[in-house]
Amino acid sequence: MAKTQQALAKAGKSQVPRQPVTGTALSVRKKRSFLADIYSTAVGKKYAMAVSGIALMGFVLFHMIGNLKMYLGAVELDHYAEFLRALLYPLAPKGAVLWILRGGLLAMLALHLHAAWSLTVLNHQARPVKYQSPRDYEVANFASRTMRYSGMIVLSFIIWHLLDLTFGVVNTVGTEGAYVKGEVYANVVRSLDRWPVAVFYILANLLLGIHLRHGAWSIFQSLGWNNPRFNTWRWTFATAFAAIVVIGNVSFPIAVLAGIVKV
Ligand code: HEM
Repeated sequence: MAKTQQALAKAGKSQVPRQPVTGTALSVRKKRSFLADIYSTAVGKKYAMAVSGIALMGFVLFHMIGNLKMYLGAVELDHYAEFLRALLYPLAPKGAVLWILRGGLLAMLALHLHAAWSLTVLNHQARPVKYQSPRDYEVANFASRTMRYSGMIVLSFIIWHLLDLTFGVVNTVGTEGAYVKGEVYANVVRSLDRWPVAVFYILANLLLGIHLRHGAWSIFQSLGWNNPRFNTWRWTFATAFAAIVVIGNVSFPIAVLAGIVKV
């Protein structure tokens, strides 16, 4: 075998690099997993963006639908929050399934952010000089710049929102109404009946809507389902999805400010 390889190498026909034969591997070529291999390409990153985007869209839709329980009163919303904490209990310990879901959500968010960041780097490497034509510039403007900025603002909102309603360590705007663990309904009302906070929620959700609408539209492009025949359907889906989430979410601060939802 070794002789054959040496003969082939001499004839310049071998694909095997010449290495001293020791019987022990001197250097091991690092093997990447199939998924890491796909993710290293621009197409793979776009797929990752789309798949994680779909998961995050699912979360925001179900989060909004769950929060609609607010209109049924404190007992219903608090009971729903408790139901989430006790998912699959007593089969699984209390909170275990929720933490697994939280882990999955965090992983999807991290993947979405990493793919967005590395696609931006790839784009810059591929085109260090900006588009010169104003038409092309506008397309690039909407597709990339708006998404990046609205995405970063939505991310800041999420961090603030968690500190506000999950950990209860911010939101000292106004006076009465400290955060009380477990009082989900009352915490939301105490937070949103301060108008600066309510306005912040409304603005953040409008931006989320812009991000969602363009994201929901782009998913089809990223997955390669961009036949012009589907465009009307894509447009309707993206617009309806973003509108449903935004209208639902924006209704909460408005309902609290208007006194429709109160403690
Ligand atoms: C006005 C709109 C919203 C309201 C009233 C609201 C309400 C809440 C409440 C009450 C919690 C705490 C639940 C608990 O402790 O059981 C929560 C958690 C959370 N919210 Fe929102 N939310 C809104 C919008 C959003 C948006 C737009 C996003 C994302 C873009 C978001 C992401 C989250 C996340 C990631 C958590 C943590 C979930 C967990 O730890 O289980 N929320 N929200």
